[in-house]
Amino acid sequence: MTMAETEQRADIYDPAYVADLFDRCSSNYRWWSAVSSFGFIYIWRRQCVALLQAPKPGAVAVDLMAGTGEVWPHLLRRFPDLGSITALDISHRMHLEAVDRLHGPYAHRITHLAANALETDLPSGMADQVLSTFGLKTFNRDQQTVLAGQIARLLKPGGSFSLIEASDPKGWLLRPIYRFYLDRLLPRIERFFLKGAQDFSMIGTYTRNFGSAAHMADALRAAGLSVTLKPHFFGCATSVSGFKPKAD
Ligand SMILES: C[S@@+](CC[C@H](N)C(=O)[O-])C[C@H]1O[C@@H](n2cnc3c(N)ncnc32)[C@H](O)[C@@H]1O
Repeated sequence: MTMAETEQRADIYDPAYVADLFDRCSSNYRWWSAVSSFGFIYIWRRQCVALLQAPKPGAVAVDLMAGTGEVWPHLLRRFPDLGSITALDISHRMHLEAVDRLHGPYAHRITHLAANALETDLPSGMADQVLSTFGLKTFNRDQQTVLAGQIARLLKPGGSFSLIEASDPKGWLLRPIYRFYLDRLLPRIERFFLKGAQDFSMIGTYTRNFGSAAHMADALRAAGLSVTLKPHFFGCATSVSGFKPKAD
């Protein structure tokens, strides 16, 4: 099936569809995302973490749509006193890849769960920090609203959050080149190097539909959080960050 047929026939926002997609991407995810983004993904993860407020020693961070945990080194480097990270991902294979990588020096501080962020029953108010890197684009607007409610629920009063996602840099002079790369070139490169696969290429469709994190920012505000929306590199990514106000 071509990508256009896939878009027409499948509900690309169905959590089961998304989980299958990332199951198929899991073994190549780390190197492919780094190479295909020309290393920008690394810079943007670091910038996402930099938008979090410094928590108290022993604090708990929740990493949503964690994939294989690529943001953890950034998080633990910036906040060495962090107590623990609870991470979750809906893709069972991404979860297995992540667990496989947990045998590093930080293993005792990280828990990785295979779970749907929209339905997670992690305890309310457990998190001093909530973060997510590149996990928003596979949610439609209604799902983003549900996710915003989950983030507000998980955060302690005074806790901070930061989310970043690849976006569509509308109005940028070089946008046609960026779109050509995502929509035309990347699918060809993927087909060639990954034996006909067209899974990573779905990023073109997802980022076009996602636009920017503006809707997520509105949803987080509506959920009672204080929110800042920020473009990164001419809007090729956007972040939303902020905190849960303490009750007077
Ligand atoms: C592009 S990857 C990002 C992974 C990682 N955070 C990073 O920085 O590379 C997006 C991840 O979101 C996960 N995901 C998508 N929908 C989800 C959901 N409803 N609940 C939990 N994880 C989800 C996917 O399985 C995938 O691993």
